[in-house]
Amino acid sequence: MSDGGGVAADRTVAIVTGAGSGIGRAAAELFLARGGAVVAVDLTEESLAWTRDVPDPTAVVALAGDVTLEATNAAAVSVAVEAFGHLDVAVLNAGMAGGLQVEDDGAMERFDQIIAVNVRAVALGIRQAAPAMRATSTRGAIVVTASTSGLGGDPRNWAYNTSKAGVINLVRGMAMDYGSQGIRVNAVAPGPVETGMTQRLTTMPQLHASMARRIPLQRWGQPSELAEAIWFLASPAASFIHGVVLPVDGGLSANAGHFDLPERS
Ligand SMILES: NC(=O)c1ccc[n+]([C@@H]2O[C@H](COP(=O)([O-])OP(=O)(O)OC[C@H]3O[C@@H](n4cnc5c(N)ncnc54)[C@H](O)[C@@H]3O)[C@@H](O)[C@H]2O)c1
Repeated sequence: MSDGGGVAADRTVAIVTGAGSGIGRAAAELFLARGGAVVAVDLTEESLAWTRDVPDPTAVVALAGDVTLEATNAAAVSVAVEAFGHLDVAVLNAGMAGGLQVEDDGAMERFDQIIAVNVRAVALGIRQAAPAMRATSTRGAIVVTASTSGLGGDPRNWAYNTSKAGVINLVRGMAMDYGSQGIRVNAVAPGPVETGMTQRLTTMPQLHASMARRIPLQRWGQPSELAEAIWFLASPAASFIHGVVLPVDGGLSANAGHFDLPERS
């Protein structure tokens, strides 16, 4: 039996933001591989060109837009409901890095931009997705990509640290509001993951290796490992998990940082 756009009602329909690269793309591809339908959102059509080459192109709609605009978030929801008949999941993952110091020229403008993408856009995403989930789904789930950089500080990263700490408590606060509506709200907190965002770091062998040495598993994460955690939190298997921030970080956030870690054997 199918609904609206010919997608079975039990098929997971998800919006994934930041789906043009890295963790978002891996999550979108995993949802598709597991039989879901996806509205893939990112800044440019070019970054979403991969959606044309998936095994079932009818299961994915690419939407170019800026998630800091309410119109983009509204369009993503409309497209999901029009194309696939319902909306079950929003993976609010789009984000930007922000290495800078507070005394740098233009620091406050950059701070505003980082907060707009990493925090405010997540609120906009939930504001638009939740009503559609209430109306069309019995298993609404929102998964936000936070960061271990929201659990502590990094050098030259105060703006990003602030934004990710902010989005962590945004998730907890939203969980208080939406639990009674049957919409679960959770976050993943990735440690270092090899994506477009970290490309500069991964091409510096010494830095790449020294960051790995702080991680108990002694390596960086891959986008597919984040996608699995996002899939789990969005799925009925996580039906009683609500308001959590799940570190997916090879143990980084469990490290008190006092001693050098044993090297990988
Ligand atoms: N890579 C890491 O080590 C790491 C660690 C912790 C958290 N994260 C978080 O993971 C998320 C995904 O990042 P990634 O590592 O996959 O990086 P990425 O740069 O590969 O992907 C991020 C995507 O978000 C998109 N995006 C940025 N601003 C946008 C906007 N205004 N509107 C629409 N799309 C926008 C980008 O175009 C890009 O395609 C981010 O929230 C990031 O902060 C990443």
